[in-house]
Amino acid sequence: MRIVVLTGAGISAESGIPTFRGAGGLWEGHRIEDVASPEGWNKNPELVLDFYNQRRRGILSAQPNAAHIQLAALDAHHEIQIITQNIDDLHERAGSKNILHLHGEILKARSVKNPNLITPINGDIQIGDVASDGAQLRPHIVWFGEQVPMLEMAIPLVEQAEILVIIGTSMVVYPAAGLLHYASPEIPVYVINPEITEISRRKNIHFIQKNAGEGVTEFIRLVLTK
Ligand code: OAD
Repeated sequence: MRIVVLTGAGISAESGIPTFRGAGGLWEGHRIEDVASPEGWNKNPELVLDFYNQRRRGILSAQPNAAHIQLAALDAHHEIQIITQNIDDLHERAGSKNILHLHGEILKARSVKNPNLITPINGDIQIGDVASDGAQLRPHIVWFGEQVPMLEMAIPLVEQAEILVIIGTSMVVYPAAGLLHYASPEIPVYVINPEITEISRRKNIHFIQKNAGEGVTEFIRLVLTK
């Protein structure tokens, strides 16, 4: 069974990584446009680097939770493709094989001049840290207003899905949210979220109103256990 799993911040919430929305529209006390846009970077790169340095430290000290781990175990019997909006590496550490990061990865940095000059990074990025082309390093993260290059790879994966599972995402950020429309209308879509989200009306949509860990257990019981 070819299963595509689209994940968002909610799947990492039980690992202690805060989600984005809620909390008065602030992200860890910052306006999103100040820390996650090219304008924010041009205005105050120190602030942006510091913000992501803190996110990186938080992610490195977090552990995959039951949702990541159960999904990884499904690789043994199913063709699982994870498409995540998350910048953390918790799907990787849980052991999932096929993971596509739509919005970049916090454990990678790139040249401000060349988006293809990408390097792994475990520690902080400071002003003055440069890529091999001599240009300043920035986090390898898609900011608001930037292209989402991995979308082109994600679309055919969703088109070929036999089941789509959507976990822990508010589905309000485009173009990621638009991926749902590439799924065949005939396939079932399972939405795992403790809040019932406004996901476009379509047939074959099933809500599992639970946290990610319990929700994945329920999905496996309902759909994959004969
Ligand atoms: P959001 O913060 O918008 O949504 C998180 C979703 O997770 C909400 O629908 C919550 O109800 C749900 N949720 C909370 N706790 C949960 C739990 N324990 N189990 C399951 N679900 C839970 O996060 P995203 O949809 O991922 O982009 O946000 C999308 C993008 O917006 C992010 O990738 C990021 C952000 O700006 C970039 O950084 C480019």
